[in-house]
Order: sequence, then structure tokens, then C-alpha cells
Amino acid sequence: MANVIVIGAQWGDEGKGKITDLLSRSADVVVRYQGGVNAGHTIVVKGQTFKLHLIPSGILYPDTECIIGSGTVIDPKVLIAELDQLDQLGISTDNLYISETAHVTMPYHRIIDQAAEGQRGDRKIGTTGRGIGPTYADKSERTGIRILDLMDTEGLREQLEWTINYKNAILEKLYNLPPLNPQEVIEEYLGYAERLRQYVVDASLKIYDGIQRRRNILFEGAQGTLLDLDHGTYPFVTSSNPVAGGACVGTGLGPTTIDRVIGVAKAYTTRVGEGPFPTELDGEIGELLCAKGAEFGTTTGRKRRCGWFDGVIGRYAVRINGLDCLAITKLDVLDELEEINVCVAYEIDGERCEHFPTSSRRFSRCRPIYKSFPGWKVSTTNCRSWQDLPKQAQDYLKYLAELMTVPIAIVSLGASRDQTIILEDPIHGPKRALLHADGTPASLLSV
Ligand code: IMP
Repeated sequence: MANVIVIGAQWGDEGKGKITDLLSRSADVVVRYQGGVNAGHTIVVKGQTFKLHLIPSGILYPDTECIIGSGTVIDPKVLIAELDQLDQLGISTDNLYISETAHVTMPYHRIIDQAAEGQRGDRKIGTTGRGIGPTYADKSERTGIRILDLMDTEGLREQLEWTINYKNAILEKLYNLPPLNPQEVIEEYLGYAERLRQYVVDASLKIYDGIQRRRNILFEGAQGTLLDLDHGTYPFVTSSNPVAGGACVGTGLGPTTIDRVIGVAKAYTTRVGEGPFPTELDGEIGELLCAKGAEFGTTTGRKRRCGWFDGVIGRYAVRINGLDCLAITKLDVLDELEEINVCVAYEIDGERCEHFPTSSRRFSRCRPIYKSFPGWKVSTTNCRSWQDLPKQAQDYLKYLAELMTVPIAIVSLGASRDQTIILEDPIHGPKRALLHADGTPASLLSV
């Protein structure tokens, strides 16, 4: 029995979808614990490609239960569109469960998200415009609508009449936008409530029951460590907690129920939206990574900013999430490069800095200090074992493991399931190595 959290170790889009899909095969339950329709993963079913924003891709396995936890924010219109797509493909959603305490993204959240971004000028965050920040803001302000409120017809009418009038004042006075019609919104959302009612449960109880019965639970993080509201590059972050700790808060479970934390990182780095990014590459190599890695957002289609692997934020992700091991994705994207750089430390105001600076202002002054590696200049997409990898690629991976101080369990070399090398059992294999008593690191790759 193992309960495992999979998180993004960078700024999101690390390829968590493929890794959770791989691990979902041995999971009985897959749980999403934070974020909303800002996330997205593309899946291919029966030759058809479509996008899921809220429903975990574990839904493709007929016996796997999928739970959208209380830490998420749910846009019912988008969720229903996902259910419809799955229905059309003949994929059952009978095993889907939605937490009754998750918050609901309302039309005013989306409008305010976009209007606020428009007014921020140079201070804009580059949000996905899906209403995520305003939904979480209402949650903290205690004016949010939860799934259980949506299910209570009379209560919802009362609550929404007050809330929409309040939001209309903001729309009209602050943003000079037309008001919403409360009755229209109420009727629309009561319709959504009927469609979703069958899925609503006490998710914490359901997951705990699974734990008691020794079922394997996979907790799937959306976005990534550096987008975490508390520990990321604030204010250029999302409004939830993608870090491993978020899995406990976002599901209603205690930390002792978790057995393992797996971090997913690309063999390079990408970022969407605004904010500092020390290893960003503006020129030809950045363009090559973008083109070869198909670095365009699933949700917004925006081009992702690309750069070299950043070992400083990597080590930070190990610390903040308590990572046990790593999955390195998209190694094949580096195949053509003559030389590959890895950021080992920063230089800030003339001084060397080994640790991620918590101030975004300081972070924006960080200049990367690189270690260079020769490229391997052959295709790795057909490699299926450690021995198949060119020596230069092996050296690169060994170095990443040393830099991050965690073993690499999985290497991914393409989108399909078979383009994967399992170096260690990600669930039961070696864990984060502690230092020997003399301060030297323990061996990391037992290959
Ligand atoms: P929000 O989550 O829409 O409020 O956006 C806040 C920041 O998080 C922006 O920089 C977004 O580009 C980024 N972001 C949100 N969701 C994702 C994601 O799934 N992948 C990568 N970046 C994301």
C-alpha cells in the first residue's frame, strides 16, 4: 500500500500528466487537491485528442476512482463540458467524485480576473484569466460559494442575490463594466447543480476510507512549486498551494497518511506568464526548445518561455516538498544541442548565492552561474534503458541527481507511454539520500 503525491518541481507544465498516467495504473484512487481550470492536460483516446482541466486523467482507467478535492476551485460549466466529452467517447464517469467543500468559480470571478489584469499594467501577473485568483480570494474573504451551497436551491438563491449585487457594484464602479443579471446567473447555476449532484461527496471521508482499506491513493498536484501562493515567486504565482503540503490541506488528510512524494521536472525549464526567470533563453536555443518541446499552454495556447535547467530552484523544490525522487521529462528535447548548461548557483549583486531568494525583487537580480555539458547529438527517443542512453546524457542525468540531492526514478523521452525509462521503482525504490556523517552525499543513481 502506498499513498503518493506527484508534484511539479518547476513553474508547472513539467509533464506531470504523463507521469501520473503511468502511476495511475497501480493507483486505486487519483485525487486532485488544488487549482482549477487554469490547469490542463491533453489526452488522446481512440485517436481523438482532447483537453481535461479538472477531471484527473485516471478517469481513463475503468476501475480507478477520481476525486476532485476540497482545495480545488470548480468552474461547473467547464466541468460539465469535460463530462460531456467523456460521455461522447463512451468513457464512464461513474467513478468521479467531487468534494462538497470545493469552491465554485462564478462568472464574476472570470470577469474580475480579466479586468484586474487589464488594469495592472506593468504589474500584471499574466494569469490564465479563468477566475482562479478571485475565486480563492472569496474563499479567504468568506464570501465564496461552495459545491454544497450550489446543491442547496433555496440557500443558493439567497446567497447569490446578495453576492451578485455586491459584485455588480465592483464591476460597474471599479471596472466600468455592465452588471450581471442575478436571476439569469442563479438559474444557470441551479441547472449545473442538477447535472453535478450525483458526483458530490464528503471527499475527505471517502479518501480516508480508502486509506483505511489500504487502497493506493495518488495525489495529483496541478501547476508547480514556484507557482505556489506561499512558497513560489510571489506575486507571480497562482492562488493555491501546488506543493506537497497542499495535498493534505486540499483533501482533509493528515501528513502521516502520505508515504512518498515524487517531483516532476523537465530536463530544461519553462514558465508561462510574467515574473523573473533567471535561466531564460531569448535567442535561437530558446526558440529551438520551444519548437521541439511544443511549448504552448494547454489552457491558453500561450507560448511558454524556455530556459536551461535551474538547479537552485530544483534544490528548493526538494526542500519545500520533501521530495523522495524525481521524474525527469522531455530529455529528448535536448538531443540536437551542441552544449547544454545547468544553473548551479546565482550571482546576486556580485555575490554567489546557493539558495532560492524569497524576495522576488532579489530573484529578478539573480544571474545564473552555469556548468556546461557537451550535448549527445543523437536521438534518444527510442532509448528504453539506461544502457541505451548516450554517455553524455547519462552524465547529464547523474549530475542533475547530484545537484538536486535526490535519485532520478523515471526519465521520459517523448509523449507516448513506452518512451520512458524506469531507473528505480518510483514508489518503493531508494529515497532522498541524506548526507553521510562527514557531510558527503550518499550515492544517488544506483545504475
Ligand atoms: P492563475 O492561476 O490563472 O491565476 O495564473 C497565475 C500564474 O500561474 C500565471 O503566471 C499563469 O501563467 C500561471 N499558471 C496557472 N496555471 C498554470 C499551469 O497549469 N501551468 C503553468 N502555469 C500556470
